[in-house]
Parts: sequence; C-alpha cells; structure tokens
Amino acid sequence: MSAPKRYTVTSALPYANGPLHVGHIAGAYLPGDIYVRYLRQRGHDVVYVCGSDEHGAAITIQAKKEGTTPQAIIDKYHEINKQAFKDLGIDFDIYHRTSSELHRETASNYFKDLYDKGVFEERETEQYYDEDFSQFLADRYIVGTCPNCGNDNAYGDQCEKCGTTLSPDELISPRSMLSNKPPVKRLTKHWYLPLNQYEDWLRSWIIKGEGRTEEWKTNVAGQCRSWIEQGLHPRSITRDLDWGVPVPLPGAEGKVLYVWLDAPIGYISATKQWAVDNGKQWEPYWKDADTKLVHFIGKDNIVFHCIIFPVILKANDYILPTNVPANEFMNLEGRKLSTSRNWAVWVHEYLRDFPGQEDVLRYYLCSNMPETKDSEFTWADFQAKNNNELVATLGNFVNRVMVLTHKYFDGKVPATDALQSEGRVWQSILGQYTKVEDAIEAYEFKNAQAEMINLARFGNQYLTKEEPWKTIKTNPEAAAAVLFDCLQIINHIAIIGQPFLPFTSQKIRQQLNATAVPVEWNAQYVQLPTGHALNQPELLFSKIEDETIQQQVDTLHASQPMTTPTEEKGAIETTASLYEPMKAEIVFDDFAKIDLRAGTILTAEKVEKADKLLKFTVDLGFEQRTIVSGVAMHFTPEQCVGQRVSIVANLAPRKLKGIESQGMILLAEDSAGKLYFTEPTVGAPNGAVIR
Ligand code: MF3
Ligand code: ZN
Repeated sequence: MSAPKRYTVTSALPYANGPLHVGHIAGAYLPGDIYVRYLRQRGHDVVYVCGSDEHGAAITIQAKKEGTTPQAIIDKYHEINKQAFKDLGIDFDIYHRTSSELHRETASNYFKDLYDKGVFEERETEQYYDEDFSQFLADRYIVGTCPNCGNDNAYGDQCEKCGTTLSPDELISPRSMLSNKPPVKRLTKHWYLPLNQYEDWLRSWIIKGEGRTEEWKTNVAGQCRSWIEQGLHPRSITRDLDWGVPVPLPGAEGKVLYVWLDAPIGYISATKQWAVDNGKQWEPYWKDADTKLVHFIGKDNIVFHCIIFPVILKANDYILPTNVPANEFMNLEGRKLSTSRNWAVWVHEYLRDFPGQEDVLRYYLCSNMPETKDSEFTWADFQAKNNNELVATLGNFVNRVMVLTHKYFDGKVPATDALQSEGRVWQSILGQYTKVEDAIEAYEFKNAQAEMINLARFGNQYLTKEEPWKTIKTNPEAAAAVLFDCLQIINHIAIIGQPFLPFTSQKIRQQLNATAVPVEWNAQYVQLPTGHALNQPELLFSKIEDETIQQQVDTLHASQPMTTPTEEKGAIETTASLYEPMKAEIVFDDFAKIDLRAGTILTAEKVEKADKLLKFTVDLGFEQRTIVSGVAMHFTPEQCVGQRVSIVANLAPRKLKGIESQGMILLAEDSAGKLYFTEPTVGAPNGAVIR
C-alpha cells in the first residue's frame, strides 16, 4: 500500500459482563488510543471504533451469577465501561453496543449475504444437551479436560491454560456448567464456515506475507502459523441459545449467530453509526483498498482477528487488516489478573482513588506494556515510575523552567535570537520526534513513550548544566537564552507527549498559555515568541506516598475470599471450575499453629471510601475484637449482625483503611464466588476452641 488515505482502527469490544481492569487497558485500549491520537495529530483521516460486546454465553453466565437478566447485565456494564474509558482519556470516535438495532441488522445482513453467496455449509450434527435444564450447551457452558495439557477446566471452545482452540467434542469427560452433570447428545442443525477452503489463501497471506504490507509481530504470526499448521476445519458459526442475533433463515428458530461472528461485525456497525452521527460515509473505511485497518487486541483474541474474521471479510470483499498488533497479558502482584477472583485493579476504582491522576496510570501501563511478553503490574513499581520519572523528570523540569521565568523575566518568554535557539536545541528536539514517530508506527509504544520522556530528560540536563539561576547575575543574556530554549522544549513535550499523557499535555499548554498554538505533529517549527506571557506554574504531578500504596495493596488482598488463594502465577482463571484444586498436604503441626475460635458478630458497619470492606466487632467470649473483612459486596451489615462465625484468632493484626483488623472471619466460597459464613459447631459458646 502506498501511503494510506484513511485509517480504521479498532480495539477489541469488551464483554459487557464486568468492569475493566488495568490488564484490559494495557492490552488493547491504551496502545490503540496512543496510535490514534498520534495519527490525528498528523492530520490523518481516522476512525477509532469500539463498543460493548453484549452477546454470547459470557453475558448469560454472568446474569445467572448475579441472579438477574442478560439485559440488566449489559446495561449496567456498558455504562460503567463507557465512562471508565472516557475518564481515562481513551478517545474512541464511538463506543457502540452490539445489542443495538443497527448492529443486529448489520450482523444479520452480513450473515445473509454470505449465505446467499453459498459460503456456508449446513450440517446436522449431535451436540451436547443438558437434560436437566432442557437446553443445548454453548461452548462456554461445557467444561472438561483439555486433550492438550490436561487442564480439567478447559472450556468447550478454548483451553485458557495452554491456549489451544477446542471444540466441545475434543474435551475429555465433559460436564455441563448448568447441572454439573455429563451432558447427552442431541441432533441439531447449524451453519459452518468452511475454513479449510481458505487454507491455501491463509497460508499465502499470513505465512508467506503475500498481499500484506506490514510484518506482523512474532507472537501474532506464530500463533496463526500454529493454527494453520494444525489444519483448518469447518467451524460452526451459529448456536442454540436464546441470547444473540437471531439466525435470519427459515427453520432457524431458537438459534443465534455465534458471538465471535457477531462481535467483530460490531466494528462495522459502530463505524456505520459513527458515519450517521457525523455526516460521513462508512463504506470507504471498510471497502477501499487505500484504507489501513488495524485491530488492537489481547493475545486471546488472535485467531478470531487473524483467521476467522479475515475469512469473513474476504468472502464479502471487504478490506483485510493491515496489522493486528496483539499484546500479551499483564499480571498483577505475582498472579494472573482475574475478574472472577476479584484479583484486579479496576479502572473505575483507580479513578476514584487517584483523582486527577489519569495520566499516571496511562504512563505506568505504557511503560510496562506487555508488547512482546507478559508483564507485571506492581503497586511499588507504579509508585516508583510516578515518583522517579513523572515527578522527578518531567514535572520537575517544567516546574523549574516556569518558576525561573516568572522569577527573572516577569513570566514572559525572554528575549533572545530565535534562530540561534533553533541551532542550540532543535536537532535534539527533532531527533525525539523522529524516534517517537518511528516507534509508534512500529507499534512499539513502550519505546515511543520512553523517547518522549527522554526529551524531558534532555531538557533537565540542559537546564542543570547551564544554571541560569547563576548566570542571571553575571550574564543575563545567557540566562534568557537558556530559558527561551527550555520553554520551546516544554512546548514540544506537550506536543510529543499528547498521545501518551493527554491530560498533562493539556495542562502544560495551559500553563504556557499556548492552547492556541497548534498541537499538530507537523507544527514542529512553531516557537513561542519572545514576550509571550505565560500563566502561573502549577505542579503537574505529585509524589505518591508509601502509605497510599500500602492501602492499595491491602485493599487488593482484603478483596480476596478469606481462604488463601491457591491460584499461582500463570494459573488459569477458574471461572469454570466447580471445585478448587486441593492444596498441598500439611502435617498436624502446621494445622495446630492456627488458633480457631467460635464467635458471634456483635456489630457490622461499612468502611468509608472502601466499597468492599465491612468492619465488625466480634465477641470471642474472653474478649471482643475488631475485624475488617472484604465482604461488603456479599453481605449487608444487617445480614451479619448476630451471625455465628469461626475466627482465626491468632493472625497477626493488619491495618485496612487505617483500621486495625485483629483476626479473620472464615468464609466458604462456592464456584460462582458466593460466600457463606462458617458457623461454629451448633451451640459452641463464644471463645470455644475449634480443632
Ligand atoms: N469480547 C471479546 C473479549 O473480551 C472481544 C471481542 S473483539 C470483537 O475477549 F472483535 F469480537 F469484537
Ligand atoms: Zn490446555
């Protein structure tokens, strides 16, 4: 492709079945947002689409867990997620929904067009059926043992442990998630996409690179290759389910489009809605060969975006993705991020706890983006990046220059020869533009951001070396020249930094009183002129204290079920498991160290600014204890008062939100994450020892 005329950029549509966490952001949204902000700054024609993925078993299963309807689930999480993206500055042109009428119609017609072209095969096959619940079981409703790695909680469509794509028939000892019984087989009719017929084309396009203009990342190309090498088979693209886009064919009652057919078409329907809202045409963004299509996703979405969706696009003569720069996963404090286990840093909670510090999270996630391998979020590292880089390098440089200019030059850009200034600093500034550009265009966002910060580092060193606070007395012209130079550097940091730190960029431009100066990437030659009046300096970043970090770590741990999590780093998310795996054997002495007592909850109240915590007073007979526990999402205070409980009485106290918790209440957790009090033996008086 010669230079693309327009860009269609997508980020994976998140399932509207739960809130967003930092792993989602680092995987598919922040890189897309940085890329698009940069493209817009260069003046390119770009549409950036996203939205909620609202169909499929992910939604119906969540509705079951929360004891509500699928519609209530998607309405709730669509709003939460839309707002979280907006607040974090993830700047989609549209955040659409796959439950919208326009989407249902678009997906339905897309299917119909392919059907009319004779693309699909119709087959009657035996599928798993749950007799207790009288329903066919969609892939996600079937769990069993992975034939590849032996994980006993593989889903019917994929093993999340080894990444193998599966079909329900491949699972060893399948069981229904609904009844937990082995399902039976029943005849049913479905439509299949014959991927095998596209194998030759996929080989030449993906493996040989024919018709492609960009290299794909090694992790992406590798996964595709292994998929193709394993042999492609017809894949069913309809399901027996009552939640989704109905199959638009006679005799297909009770059947819907497979969510992985429906959802990517969501990118197209989102573009249509955006076009309607903005008086544009949507077709060029999906059909013209001079459009560059880029999908930002996490690694679990690779096959769908690199193989299945492209086949569907090709079959209808749409353009193919130029690139699919998928990221690996981000872990959290040594364990896999997990929605079902509540092991996560939730975006909406971060934004509540760190108001005005959106860019700190963006900065940290970008600096730690899992571009080539899994990465790790730790609160200590988050603090260090803020304190050592944002505060000490970027914030400090901008602040010193602003303060000095106010002190010595009345808050106005000092007088100096503009051309000579260009001679002194321009090469360095330009060099950073080029490096950032090259890195962004190669989808290396981590490097790109590091080069952006290097410009601040350069400015800091320059300022420190030239010491205008000293030369002001001996050689005021030299001091004027240095501050002139530094103010130009700051203005360029605001421009180069915009894709990464949009809020900060805006604050800097505000302080420079330069919001009227173009922020376009090619506005490189713009200089703030001598005499230009600056606004008052304001700190851009502030130091994050140990205590703040400790609170986050404590809250994270407190949000865990009271039993010690057995899930280890890299272990799979155990949504599907009905029973937790057994822990390693212990000897009696290990057990005897634990002092368990019977008790009664006397009082229970919510803890301020902590959604998940309840503070209890527990009577242990010989004394009363204060215990804080992360159960506020499960029980109301009223439900707890009077409850008999088993207590770990000799656990070292720890502080949660400033309250000392003196022990732990034992709770049982079922596979759906529901909690139950473990009542002491009937009638045991408070303080009785349990052993
Ligand atoms: N909802 C899917 C997930 O979270 C992603 C869908 S991407 C789309 O894994 F292409 F299907 F939209
Ligand atoms: Zn496996």
